[in-house]
Amino acid sequence: MTRKIRRIAVFTSGGDSPGMNAATRAVVRTAIYNDLHVYGIKGGYEGMMNADFQLLTKGDVGNILQRGGTILKTARSQEFMTKQGRQNAYENLMAHEIDACVAIGGNGTYTGALKLYEEFDFPIVGVPGTIDNDIFGTDYTIGFDTAINTAIEAVDKIRDTADSHNRLFFIEVMGRHAGYIALHTGIGSGAGNIFLPEKENSIEELTAFLKKSARRKKLFNLVIVAEGNKNGDAYTIASKVKESCPEYDSKVTIIGHLQRGGSPTCHDRVLASRLGYSAVNALMEEKYGIAVGIIDNKISFTSLKDAITKTKTLDVDMIKMAEILAM
Ligand code: F6P
Repeated sequence: MTRKIRRIAVFTSGGDSPGMNAATRAVVRTAIYNDLHVYGIKGGYEGMMNADFQLLTKGDVGNILQRGGTILKTARSQEFMTKQGRQNAYENLMAHEIDACVAIGGNGTYTGALKLYEEFDFPIVGVPGTIDNDIFGTDYTIGFDTAINTAIEAVDKIRDTADSHNRLFFIEVMGRHAGYIALHTGIGSGAGNIFLPEKENSIEELTAFLKKSARRKKLFNLVIVAEGNKNGDAYTIASKVKESCPEYDSKVTIIGHLQRGGSPTCHDRVLASRLGYSAVNALMEEKYGIAVGIIDNKISFTSLKDAITKTKTLDVDMIKMAEILAM
C-alpha cells in the first residue's frame, strides 16, 4: 500500500550502545530536511505503549553526536511481547498520527519492529544499534567499535600489572551469544587465548599450553572469555584451570557494562550517521519492514525477518589467525 509519510517517530530500545545518539541525530535532521515532523519516543517500546512521545527539533539533537548512552532512553519491554501491549502501542502511534518509525537497537528491537510491521502493516525501518555486532545484514553495528576500543584499553592496563606480577588473568567481555567483542579484543590486545561461543575451546588444551609456558617460567598470560562461551563464566574457567595449574597466580576481571558506555569512536559516529540518514531515505522510498546496514562499506537493506532469523557468522579464518599469532 502506498501512503504519504508526513510524521515519523524514532526510538532506541534494548541495551544502549555508543553512537545511538548520533543515529538519532541523523534520523531527526534527515527527516526535517525532508519536511517531515519527527517525534522521539522515550524508553523504546515502553514509551510507545505509554504514549511518551515528544516532537523533536533540529536543536533538540544538537550537542549529542559525541555522547554515549541514549537521550531517548531505552528499555527491554516484557509487555510489548504481548499482543495487548502491541495493540496499545499501535493505537498510540495512530492517535499521534505517526506514519512510520525508525527503530534503533538489536535483535529484540528488530523482533518488536517486525511484529508491528506484520500485525499492523505499520511502516518501520530498523537501524542496528548494539555493542554485540551480532546482527545479520550489516558488517558492523553501532557501538561495537567503541566497545572493543574500551575493552582493549582495559586489557592493555591489565597487561601492565599482569606482566609485572607474572600473573594469569581471565578477562570476561560482553557479546551475549556472539564472540565478536571477544575475538576483536583478543586479537587487538594480543591475548594468549580466546574463549568463544563459536569455538570448541577446551580447558585441557588451555592447561597444556599454560603448563608449557610455566616450564619456561612464564606465568603471565591473558585469556579473553566471551560471556556466551560454552565453558562457563570467567570465574568458572579460572577455578577449573587452577585445579591443574596451581603454580599460576590467577585473577579474574569482568569488564562488564563499562563496554556499553563512553563517547562513541569516530567509526561509530560516522556509521550511525550513515545508517540514520539511510533509514529515513528508505522510508521516503517506501522501503518498509527492513533493516539498514553496511556491507563492504556500502549501504544495504535486509528484511527484518532475515535480520532476525539469519545468523551472522564469525570469520573462521580470523579465529585461526588469532590462534596462530598467540603462539
Ligand atoms: O546486548 C548488549 C549487551 O550488553 C550484551 O552484551 C549483554 O549480554 C547484555 O546486553 C547485558 O544486558 P543488561 O544490560 O540488560 O544486563
